[in-house]
Amino acid sequence: MTVTVVVGTQWGDEGKGKIVDMLAEDADIIARYGGGNNAGHTVVVGSETFKLHHIPSGVLYPDKLLAMGNGMVITPEVLVGEIEGLKERGIEIGPHRLRISNHAHVIMPYHQAIDGGGGKIGTTGRGIGPCYQDKAERTEAIRMGDFVKPGFRNRLWEVVEAKFPVLSFMGVVPEGLSQKAYAALLYEQLSPLAEFLGPYIDGHIPEILNTAIDLGKEVILEGAQGTLLDIDQGTYPYVTSSSPTAGGACTGLGIGPTRIDEVTGVAKAYTTRVGNGPFPTELTDELGEKIRIVGGEYGTTTGRPRRVGWLDIPILKYAAIINGLTQLALTKADVLNGINPVKVCVGYEVDGRRTDAFPIDDLDRAKPIYEEIQGWRDASRIEGNFRRYIERIEGLTGVPVTIVSYGPDRRDTILR
Ligand code: IMP
Repeated sequence: MTVTVVVGTQWGDEGKGKIVDMLAEDADIIARYGGGNNAGHTVVVGSETFKLHHIPSGVLYPDKLLAMGNGMVITPEVLVGEIEGLKERGIEIGPHRLRISNHAHVIMPYHQAIDGGGGKIGTTGRGIGPCYQDKAERTEAIRMGDFVKPGFRNRLWEVVEAKFPVLSFMGVVPEGLSQKAYAALLYEQLSPLAEFLGPYIDGHIPEILNTAIDLGKEVILEGAQGTLLDIDQGTYPYVTSSSPTAGGACTGLGIGPTRIDEVTGVAKAYTTRVGNGPFPTELTDELGEKIRIVGGEYGTTTGRPRRVGWLDIPILKYAAIINGLTQLALTKADVLNGINPVKVCVGYEVDGRRTDAFPIDDLDRAKPIYEEIQGWRDASRIEGNFRRYIERIEGLTGVPVTIVSYGPDRRDTILR
């Protein structure tokens, strides 16, 4: 009877999907609290690989209840495709066990069109920013509840009326299409999806979750992205538009902070980042390329090569503070097998002064200070140099490493 938040400690892609899938075996409910199909959670079971963008990673167990919270933004077409794709692969999924908050927001085709090129931030181009922008703006947004109601047509007409001049100016509206024709086109595209998703929409996610917690159920709150992509606590402006940190689990699902028992931070044994923005421990040499290839460091959502660098302890310490981490799950330790020495950033020098904290506002001037650790050959056993690596992480962060993952499969995991 534990409520656990699973959160990314770095810039996303830490392997949260695998860790959530593993923890989900003993859980009753898995609830995702933020982001949209900018996320790509990979779960490997035997010879099968599942890539999930919206649906919580516990989906592969047939008896678990899954919730998608109000903090999420949803592309209906992608979600419907994901549900149908899972069904085709024999995963039993339907409204009886997947509940979607009526307050989650709809990513509209024009959101995606506006975001398409990735821009200065190097976004995933999935319309995430423009959708959250409308959510914050409030009058031109469409929530999942509005989307599946009979009044959707009228709501869409209202929103298109307000947006049409800007969308035309931006070149999002197909050439020569009138406002009425554009609204009709969107309706034609979206109404079958709304009909499909109707039975999944739920106005009671907070009650469902809080009642389950009262009854002593095991609940996992699944984050997307990572601490440094958080709009408030991340490396702004090179962040996403939501709150991936643990606090986002409360606002994104309707749960009070006092209900949370554990916060598990997922950390890769090295660091990666996709998109633009500062990355002090980045390796731009051959070793970086080797780690990228061995680790398969290409975006699950966009296929973009991920930038690769050494493990950054100040980042993990920062994530420990921001999220209140109670434990760490270390992933992809096998990718560093055979690399010697392995470097770990233990602090920074900024303007000639040493700091052990992550200098989030001075990253342009921060020089990492490294410690070298003897490498290991086989991360599937926690002994020798690999044990020393883990113990060093624990010593420097003050957070116990309770899960070690050394491969993509469920079985490639050690619980400590
Ligand atoms: P957006 O979330 O698509 O707006 O992208 C904003 C930034 O967050 C970009 O640098 C993206 O590469 C990054 N990002 C968004 N989602 C993920 C993710 O799931 N993993 C890693 N990076 C992500």
